[in-house]
Amino acid sequence: MTSEDLPPIEQHTLPISTRAPGKCILFGEHAVVHGAPELALAIDLDTQVIVRASDRTRLNADTEALRHNDYFRAALEARWRAGPPIDVRAVSRIPKAAGLGSSAAFVAALAAALGAAHEGVARADLAQISFDIERTAQGVGSPGDTSTSVAGGYVTLNGGDGPTLWTVTSGSQSWTVRRGSDPGWSWIVAYSGIPRSTQDAVRAVGERLARPDGPELLARFRSVAREGIRAIAREDRNETARAMRANQELLREVGVSHPRLEELITSVSECASAAKLTGAGAGGSIVALPIPGREAECIRRLARVGALAFAVRPARRGAGLVSETDPDRAR
Ligand code: MEV
Repeated sequence: MTSEDLPPIEQHTLPISTRAPGKCILFGEHAVVHGAPELALAIDLDTQVIVRASDRTRLNADTEALRHNDYFRAALEARWRAGPPIDVRAVSRIPKAAGLGSSAAFVAALAAALGAAHEGVARADLAQISFDIERTAQGVGSPGDTSTSVAGGYVTLNGGDGPTLWTVTSGSQSWTVRRGSDPGWSWIVAYSGIPRSTQDAVRAVGERLARPDGPELLARFRSVAREGIRAIAREDRNETARAMRANQELLREVGVSHPRLEELITSVSECASAAKLTGAGAGGSIVALPIPGREAECIRRLARVGALAFAVRPARRGAGLVSETDPDRAR
């Protein structure tokens, strides 16, 4: 037992409606795939899914979705193999291919609904199942996105000293997922408008880290993420900003920054303590730590360079059944 036992997804009969939050990575993307620490937070943008009995299996009215949507197919093969046809509707407020966890949120919400339709599912199992589905669909990656979506709040992988939530495995690799501390800060996320492929970026970084200086680079990723996680736990904005800048430098060095991301980062240099890309990079989004009181200015500056910017707060609840008493909705 941990000091934070997240509630299971209760058994429920169809129709079932679930939701799961997107995520924003503060430290450690890419390196986490190779076992280094990561810190992410679930954000208050989510995907909602409704699953109903039907005469034919479809996703958002598309009866061919099982053929061309890898995530949908992987989820149903893993959790609904012998199940009757279902009609799944999914609505998301998370921009797609933007580095904000839209696939993980879809997978976690759908796996939660399918789990509820069986006998219910423990949250640690939901984290493993969601990762297995995402990994089957993507072929690469870490459980960072899916575990953050399942847990809600701040989450660390392979780092930090918060209560252990669960361990997720893939073959001989394993990641320990812990509760990260919440400094109570607001963050700004801005989407560059350039969609990107997680698979391509993860493979390119894997090749870069396989070069002779790879182990040394990975060691630098590890220590920057550890510093960032410690700085946030101490609520030390200066150290957090320093670690964010150092992390961005490393991400640049492994080739996943992009001129457009650099433009966005530069645009907030006066109103934010620091900014870095978030997620897979090569397009996608940045995350900025605004100077308190200057959030609106950062959003204006980002809009001026054509980015879709918004303030994000941690989603307190991870994946689960939609309920009228949802704390993330009651604001
Ligand atoms: C993508 O959101 C984060 C990456 O580290 C890939 C992963 O962890 O699965 C780039």
